[in-house]
Amino acid sequence: TVSEDLRLKYRYLDMRRSRLIENLRIRHRVAKITRDFLDEEGFLEIETPILSKSTPEGARDFLIPSRIQPGKFYALPQAPQQYKQLLMVAGVEKYFQIARCFRDEDLRADRQPEFTQIDLEMSFVSPADVMGVIERLLVRIMKGVSGVEVELPFPQLTYAHAMDRYGSDKPDLRFGMELKNLNDVLAETSFKVFSSVIAAGGLVKGLNAKGQAGVTNRQLDAWTDVVKAFGAKGLASLKVGEGRDLSGQIAKFLSDQEQAELCERFEAEQGDLLLFVADKPVVANTALGRIRLEAARLADCIPDDKFAFAWVTEFPLLEYDEERERYVSVHHPFTSPVTDDIAKLDTDPSAVRAQAYDIVMNGVELGGGSIRIHRPDFQERMFGVLGIGVDEARGRFGHLLDALSLGAPPHGGVALGFDRLVMLLAGAASIRDVIAFPKTARASCLMTSSPSEVAKEQLDELHIRCVNQDTE
Ligand code: AMO
Ligand code: AMP
Repeated sequence: TVSEDLRLKYRYLDMRRSRLIENLRIRHRVAKITRDFLDEEGFLEIETPILSKSTPEGARDFLIPSRIQPGKFYALPQAPQQYKQLLMVAGVEKYFQIARCFRDEDLRADRQPEFTQIDLEMSFVSPADVMGVIERLLVRIMKGVSGVEVELPFPQLTYAHAMDRYGSDKPDLRFGMELKNLNDVLAETSFKVFSSVIAAGGLVKGLNAKGQAGVTNRQLDAWTDVVKAFGAKGLASLKVGEGRDLSGQIAKFLSDQEQAELCERFEAEQGDLLLFVADKPVVANTALGRIRLEAARLADCIPDDKFAFAWVTEFPLLEYDEERERYVSVHHPFTSPVTDDIAKLDTDPSAVRAQAYDIVMNGVELGGGSIRIHRPDFQERMFGVLGIGVDEARGRFGHLLDALSLGAPPHGGVALGFDRLVMLLAGAASIRDVIAFPKTARASCLMTSSPSEVAKEQLDELHIRCVNQDTE
């Protein structure tokens, strides 16, 4: 087989022979269906600037120096977020765009520095209205591209629910293996690791890796390393034998009654493997959530011909950033809180839920959106909660605050990762395989050798001097 680097260098040759061109056909179909569908639904496709101003979506900006105005910079849009909100103020009511976005962040199989969103925004809507549009669109795409009938409505889980049952905010619902809370069963257990965590307000969570009692110790050690990377202290395991006889290091600490109740809770059968993490809720859930995926992959019980969609709702609005010593938006600063939670903004910010929703497909975060703040005073208050002072808020977001003060309709929207959607439809392992000319993990294009040096005259014109040329 040819290395991916060589294939990327001669991308045009690779396209001649490989699945690539088929993937680009799928991409074309998805774009065509999207345009036709949103047109039918009364959406207007509007292009927004690429030479733009910084909008916070959680990544670094790509900056473009201005030649005409020395020392000033455009930012490439991380998303058309503010423009689409301004279009609502303009009275557009239903906007969409198949929009190119740019984010300078660490790259992975499902992340590129430039990527495409199916971006939309609507006025006078509830979350259900926005979700309805996306559901109908995805039904149309699934049918048109894959010939698959998807059932409506998609299941909805709250964020709290998703974390509790799947240990993830993007649960893969193609299979079960749900996490169980075992605090009630194990509160009094003589296994001190468990009882002390429960006494300290933590959780003992477990899952039944169906039929995997035969895993090697080496596999268990590897999984232990996985949970440790999430901050857990260990991964306890029990194998289920004949007559629900439990064996393993910790079996001797568990009473007959505890063992029986565990088996009941897990619907354990001979040959099953029970896995446990006891820790703070977020650690126990996320660590075991990852093990759920790994155990399912190992057991080959993820059907790859199935498409499982789900909405995750009621995300937290804010999370505390230890490094910056302040709260930051989980989604972005324009997201509305759940009305009932507004009172907690000052007293208990991390408990405030957002009117935000993510769409998940086969365990991949396909898209996300929210109902926006449309009152200028409340938007200012939100900037305050985020530690953005009045002057800074005016400087960065004055245009938005002005627009909101000139009469903005209530509005909300969503953006789908177009590349990710095509990747899942094409059964590709990476979004690189559905983009004609993608970049590597180091954000280079091997075909054109970008990024590259430029002539000194060009830099001079742009009023730029490089301080450290040899960073390679
Ligand atoms: P968000 O930041 O969640 O929301 O992005 C929406 C979707 O875009 C895709 N995506 C990416 N795809 C490939 N490479 C990347 N680097 C990348 N980053 C994001 C994901 C993600 O779910 N303005 C808001 C939307 C809104 O509120 O309406 C936004 O951009 O699939
Ligand atoms: P120890 O008593 O530390 O030797 O641990 C006994 C078993 O429990 C080992 O398999 C550990 O990996 C596991 N273990 C230790 N701490 C935890 C924890 N917090 N949650 C789950 N399992 C743990």
